[in-house]
Amino acid sequence: MKQENTFNLDNFWIPFTGNKAFKAEPRLLVEADGMYYTSDDDKKILDGIAGMWCCNAGHCHPHIVKAVQDQIATMDYATAFNMSHPKAFELAEKISQLTPEGLDRIFFGNSGSEAVDTALKVAVAYHVSRGEGQRSRFISREKGYHGVNVGGTSVGGIPTNRKSFGALLSGTDHLPHTWDPKEMSFSKGQPTWGLHLAEELESILTLQDASTIAGVIIEPVIGSGGVIVPPEGYLERIREICDKHGILLIFDEVITGFGRLGNSFAANRFNVCPDIITMAKGLTGAAIPMSATAFKTEIYDEIVNSSDSVIELFHGYTYSGHPVAAAAGLATLEVYENENLFNRALIMEPIFEENLHSLKGEKFIIDIRNLGLMGAIHFGSEDNRSAVEVASKVFKYCYENDVLVRFSGEFIVLSPALIVEEEQIKLIIETIRQGIHSLN
Ligand SMILES: Cc1ncc(COP(=O)(O)O)c(C=O)c1O
Repeated sequence: MKQENTFNLDNFWIPFTGNKAFKAEPRLLVEADGMYYTSDDDKKILDGIAGMWCCNAGHCHPHIVKAVQDQIATMDYATAFNMSHPKAFELAEKISQLTPEGLDRIFFGNSGSEAVDTALKVAVAYHVSRGEGQRSRFISREKGYHGVNVGGTSVGGIPTNRKSFGALLSGTDHLPHTWDPKEMSFSKGQPTWGLHLAEELESILTLQDASTIAGVIIEPVIGSGGVIVPPEGYLERIREICDKHGILLIFDEVITGFGRLGNSFAANRFNVCPDIITMAKGLTGAAIPMSATAFKTEIYDEIVNSSDSVIELFHGYTYSGHPVAAAAGLATLEVYENENLFNRALIMEPIFEENLHSLKGEKFIIDIRNLGLMGAIHFGSEDNRSAVEVASKVFKYCYENDVLVRFSGEFIVLSPALIVEEEQIKLIIETIRQGIHSLN
């Protein structure tokens, strides 16, 4: 039975949500366990999106819950400035064992947005330290999402996320995205078409002068922009061009890190090594907010060893390496290892792919894309219904039928926890199918 609300819906300004519509028809979750949420009307809801690409070990894993409970009862907080605590060091070491070789200096933040802004600032600081202070610009990609802070919004490539916020940072430019439905619709995994689009980086570098560029930031697989998988050879070519011009390559792995693609990081899956990796979400399985940015040793050494200032980098957050978040991170990484969850994602990938692509041919669907345990169903407009209306109706149908998927503009996105079972994947897909049929 639905619980009577004892609170006012007015005061909370809900992020990235139609506030008027939501408050007219709120959806509230009150408990979580494994693959399921419980709603305030006592329905068990199958979570098809791991919270929001983040609860990779499933909800309320007992090992993570206990680590958080123990830590909060032992030490709630220790300042991150001029003091620290052992778990921050232990976690940084564990993360450095999962990143590609050489990316072993870890800076902690609280959100993916902070990890991105840390990456951008440190990239510039690195060039300044080397006497190349003219390198202050960034190149990113259309449809890329890099959080909502000013730096991340400036390099972001989703028009709606930029348009209300004025000029943003100067000195950013965007590569074209790599999605072309004529060439690659319904391709499974990496498309074979589109490698030539990496050459656009050379064109931008000619226009902007390569010697002014600090870094190129990209999501190895675009997530929020609609699960756009890089064409074969694309990331390798971007790496080559960055090397040729002395430009740092930043992979934003806030979504793709920690098993989403069946490896610790997309960099490992694609065997392309960036200079900087941003991560968040799966780092603590979202139990406590935390993010991190991993830097190549040379970047740390350049800034830290060549500085004669008492403090080498004037950057950081009150909660950098927070003890409770660090405890959650350590426990989460133990769960991934003990339960072999990254490998489990690899095992589930073909099952997920086959079920997802079984939706091909259903009305309104113009493309389906996937890699690892991330997938998007892309709708087109038909019969006087816009793609956004179709996606939003399918989302609502699924929720009313006890399955949580993600509605994101013209697509429905799926990113189940790495513990997902085959039967649960089937149920998610069949509920989406019925949602589409309900529109006929
Ligand atoms: C690739 C990427 N970068 C950055 C962010 C921002 O993370 P947060 O919402 O924790 O600030 C996100 C969030 O979805 C993301 O997907």
